[in-house]
Amino acid sequence: MNTSTDTHLHAAQTLSSQTAARTVYLRNTWYVAMWSRDLVGTQPLARTLLNEPIVFYRKQDGQVAALTDRCPHRFALLSMGRVLPGDRLECPYHGLQFGADGACVHNPHGGGAIPPAARVRAYPVIEKHSLLWIWMGERPADPSRIPDYSCFDGADPVRVTERDYLRMNASCELVMNNLLDTSHTSYVHAGILGGGDTVMAQTEAREEGGMVTISRVSQDCEIPAMYRDLTPPEVTRTTKWNVMRWNAPSCILIQGGVGGPGADAAQGWGYDGVHLLTPETDRSVHYHFAAVRWNLLTQDHAHNEALRQKISAMRRFAFAEQDGPIIEAQQRAIDAAGGQLRPVMLSVDGGLVRCARVLERLLASEQAPAADQAPSSP
Ligand code: FES
Ligand SMILES: [Fe+2]
Repeated sequence: MNTSTDTHLHAAQTLSSQTAARTVYLRNTWYVAMWSRDLVGTQPLARTLLNEPIVFYRKQDGQVAALTDRCPHRFALLSMGRVLPGDRLECPYHGLQFGADGACVHNPHGGGAIPPAARVRAYPVIEKHSLLWIWMGERPADPSRIPDYSCFDGADPVRVTERDYLRMNASCELVMNNLLDTSHTSYVHAGILGGGDTVMAQTEAREEGGMVTISRVSQDCEIPAMYRDLTPPEVTRTTKWNVMRWNAPSCILIQGGVGGPGADAAQGWGYDGVHLLTPETDRSVHYHFAAVRWNLLTQDHAHNEALRQKISAMRRFAFAEQDGPIIEAQQRAIDAAGGQLRPVMLSVDGGLVRCARVLERLLASEQAPAADQAPSSP
């Protein structure tokens, strides 16, 4: 990892300006809109993403349509309308009907002529890894760029914690920086996810194809509560590690685990923690999270299920009651200062800086003139 003072100073300035007014988002990429199970039946569902109002509904074949949630006639919310046979969404105000491609297909007024401007934007949506992914950009959607969350696919339900959701009143960047910085677990989540001894973790960061991986390994630790029930009683001290994978702009997978001295993921036990952020507005974020348990599963189904529920509650508590208040207060403090603050950088910020640089590069590429707009990784 490059830890030169100059590099950190440059990154600090970058982070400052992004925190001050992040109104430009990476668009030609996949964002999580919601869990698959959130969209059921024929009821349309409204959700604002990247400041854009969007209505989602299921088509007759089960696939998902996503349209701008604003009728082009008098701007009523299409999400207040109803889905009709033929995958038509009817505006609740004067009854224009729109197809899943966003084109108006029926005008009940006058002679029924359809003005050319009577259409709304349709967004590509793919259902994968039990999530609905939406492509927000204008370039062709590339399904191969959906990050890998196959840990959900085919997993025994007893291994998967509640597929949970929080809305936080802070910028996506602040919440993302919290997740990228696992050193805070020693303070914010002491006893649950980490302890004082995890401050001394060895940290490594590397980038490959626009994806950043940050590893933290702590030797001879107390066992955090999240892993206590997974760990044989005779094991009292462990190696603890976190391997965090970040896919731009805001999808994170944290493999966290513990094991005996020198253990790695093959010998230890723990969870794949899934953290998926999507900006709602510049000051609010949709946060989808869950964890998938790996290795060690006992034959006692009731015990496994009880543990699943306990860990689900523990994780929700950690994010909603421990991280949430700090991050939202951070946002208020930044806004109160006019947003023009420069963070002091510590060694623990190395991974965060690396991700900020990747994001900066991708944003620059996206905003480059058309001739330079080759699809960028990841
Ligand atoms: S506002 Fe939608 S049809 Fe009039
Ligand atoms: Fe946290």
